[in-house]
Amino acid sequence: MAEAYIKGIGTYAPQRVMTNFDWEKLVDTTNEWIIQRTGIKERRIAAPEEVTSDLGAQAAKEAMEAAGVSSEDIDLLICATASPDTILPSTACWMQPKLGLEGKPAFDISAACSGFAYGLAIAEQFVRTGKYRNVLVVGAEMLSRMMDWKDRSICVLLADGAGAAVVSSEGGGGRILGSRLHADGTYAELLWLPAGGTKMPASHETVDKRLHYYIMKGNELFKIAVKSMADVTRELLEEVGLSEKDIDWIIPHQANIRILQSLAKRLRVSWDRVVVNIERYGNTSAASIPLAWDEALKDGRIKRGDRLLLVSFGGGLTWSAILVEW
Ligand code: COA
Repeated sequence: MAEAYIKGIGTYAPQRVMTNFDWEKLVDTTNEWIIQRTGIKERRIAAPEEVTSDLGAQAAKEAMEAAGVSSEDIDLLICATASPDTILPSTACWMQPKLGLEGKPAFDISAACSGFAYGLAIAEQFVRTGKYRNVLVVGAEMLSRMMDWKDRSICVLLADGAGAAVVSSEGGGGRILGSRLHADGTYAELLWLPAGGTKMPASHETVDKRLHYYIMKGNELFKIAVKSMADVTRELLEEVGLSEKDIDWIIPHQANIRILQSLAKRLRVSWDRVVVNIERYGNTSAASIPLAWDEALKDGRIKRGDRLLLVSFGGGLTWSAILVEW
């Protein structure tokens, strides 16, 4: 099997900043509660004229530039999103003409907050088998349009953003050491969007009952999140013959700062080795890992040879780990 590399990364965050104080004016919450319970101070909210594929396309363009590839070099476009432009067609298809990729295969994957890692793992397989040379993986989310702005238990957490990576058979960035994916659908109703599919088609009643928004049982998810992310990390480390001590940076899905602190403790990785930017972006689901990763690359924290653990957890439930040597 050939090697698979991360050749370049790009991100896009909408311009509008919404602070906890802005939320105080809209729901019964406080800046203190949000910071203490989640670590979030502010987040980005997309402009009314933007859609998810616009955010994704911006990040994808930056990733292609960073990788030094053009549209002609891309063989496949994968978009991970839990907030698609439309159910049909895929957000990847909406995004495709914005990137000059017409005619190239394009599809979405639905793995919620683990979507970017799932996308990287799928791309990795296509590259390792020699089927494709360059796969563009995008995690793009506009959660602000899919959440209930009256439900304080979730609206203060979620936000908008996008990240992308070019997974390639040629080196230049990071080498993927391994990947491990998991899901457990028996927990589906811990985080879901009930209506609008075949289970509960859209009707006046589903709209009146506010069933077209995400519903989350936050504290049940919290406990499973920490254990799942620690377990999948250990499985992957064992598979590739490494240990926790070999991890230079944890780049986790940014769901809650307390989840990340517990994870670092469980893995016995010091807190200053965890890339955290939840205070400025909130939870951007499939966009959160690339948003954190790109920041740590650009500010020089990540050095050549560093081993990076990308680890995520989200609705499905889904969870995953990927190891990259930069
Ligand atoms: N502002 C003020 N109070 C709030 C609030 C808000 N925005 N949201 C909830 N509360 C209240 C609750 O109503 C509850 O009040 P009560 O004790 O009077 O019933 C209290 O705060 C505690 O709620 P709880 O849900 O137990 O808080 P928590 O410490 O578990 O924090 C989350 C809530 C959602 C921040 C936290 O559980 C979490 O981050 N969970 C994981 C999310 C996740 O991983 N999602 C999936 C992957 S993306």
